[in-house]
This record gives sequence, C-alpha cells and structure tokens, in this order.
Amino acid sequence: MGKIGLIGAMDEEIALLLQGMDSKEELKRAGISFVQGQIHGRDVVVCKSGVGKVNAAMTTQVLIDSFQVDMIWFTGVAGAVNPTLDIGDIVISSSCQQHDMDASPLGFERGVIPYQEVSDFPAAKELIQLAQEACDKLCTDNRYIVGRVLSGDQFIADYKLVSQLYRKMEGACVEMEGSAVAQVCYMNQIPYVVLRSMSDKADGTADVNFAEFTVKAARRSFEIIDDMLQRL
Ligand code: ADE
Repeated sequence: MGKIGLIGAMDEEIALLLQGMDSKEELKRAGISFVQGQIHGRDVVVCKSGVGKVNAAMTTQVLIDSFQVDMIWFTGVAGAVNPTLDIGDIVISSSCQQHDMDASPLGFERGVIPYQEVSDFPAAKELIQLAQEACDKLCTDNRYIVGRVLSGDQFIADYKLVSQLYRKMEGACVEMEGSAVAQVCYMNQIPYVVLRSMSDKADGTADVNFAEFTVKAARRSFEIIDDMLQRL
C-alpha cells in the first residue's frame, strides 16, 4: 500500500492528523515542516503548506520528490459557492480549477491557463469513491456533494463575486490551494483528492463565519479523512 501525502493549509486543518499519528519524524524542506509516520497503520506524511497557491504547489512537489508519496489528499475548509450548501457541508473535488487565472484580453475564458491542454484538473476516481463512502457514513446531520473546487489567491467575501463563480465557473466551493495541488499532481501523474468542509458562504458574512466556524469545519474534514484512512 502506498504512502499518502496529507496537506492542510493552516494549523487548524492538520492539528488532529498530527495528534493521531504514530512514530512521528519531522523533517524540514523549503521552510515547510513535513511529519512522517503512520495513521491507522498507513504510511503518511502530514504537512502544513501555508495559505495560497504558491505554497501549495511547492509543498506538493516536495512531497512527490523528497518523500515519494503515491497520492495526495488535501483536507481543510472552504467558502460555499453552490447555494444549496450550508456551513458544515462537505465538498469532495470532482476537479479543481483556478478562478483567478484570467487571460481574457487574449481571448481565453476565465480559469483557462493559456497554451496548456488542461486547466480543470480531475481528481482520482477511486479517491472520490473512497471519500463518498466515508461521507455516506459520517454526513448524518450535514450534506456532501462531489463538485468543482475553485481556487485563487483571494479570500472571497462578496455575494456578487460568489454568485459569478457559481454561474460562470460552476464552482461548488472556493478556497486558496486545491487547484495548485491538483495541477502539480496532474503534471507528475499522482492521484489526488481535495476534501473541504464549508466554514462560510463566501459572501458579506464570510469573514465573521470563517473566524467562528473554521475549527469545527476543519474537524469535520479531518473525521472524513480519518475514516478514509481506515477504509483504504
Ligand atoms: N477558505 C474558507 N473560506 C474561504 C473563502 N470565502 N474564500 C477563499 N478561501 C476560503
């Protein structure tokens, strides 16, 4: 069974993973701390990428090159874009795309990376399936959907912007790292999945809700990852 790279962007998103780890060994690469060990007997490397696409891309490439991980799972919180989602609901990535990639003056649609074959990077089917099985069991008082995760180097807190992301880019949720992880995984042919629990609705109340619900939402995302590790 392969080694799994587990990434979160913030301390809250990896704290419970680190608590549940056996035989931990910490190594630093490129200023990021990588903790190797086991969870439920599975070989894992847990790390905090930091916020944003550059941090996420760099961390993913280090996981692949220096730690030889066979797959990458991202856990954390996001702003809901699909209006049927509530705070606490879950999005499993069907794919990830950058909403702030915009070369429209050159005739490219928003989100399309110029002169590149793929801009919407599909997640691994078997990992989506595994996450769905965990959600079928654990999402008892909340919902989950499989949908497109949109990423950008912006915290979205504007109703107009978020409804545009839904209508124009068919996003399920918005965050700041997933598509960078997805792109690096795609270039290296490594399977990935992003799992996000909604901390806010990316509207005018997003900053307040993010502060209030992040720890709770991060716990939900962790519980699903933990169940996935036991099912693998
Ligand atoms: N992560 C959690 N909520 C978010 C939001 N509203 N925008 C971007 N990233 C987020």
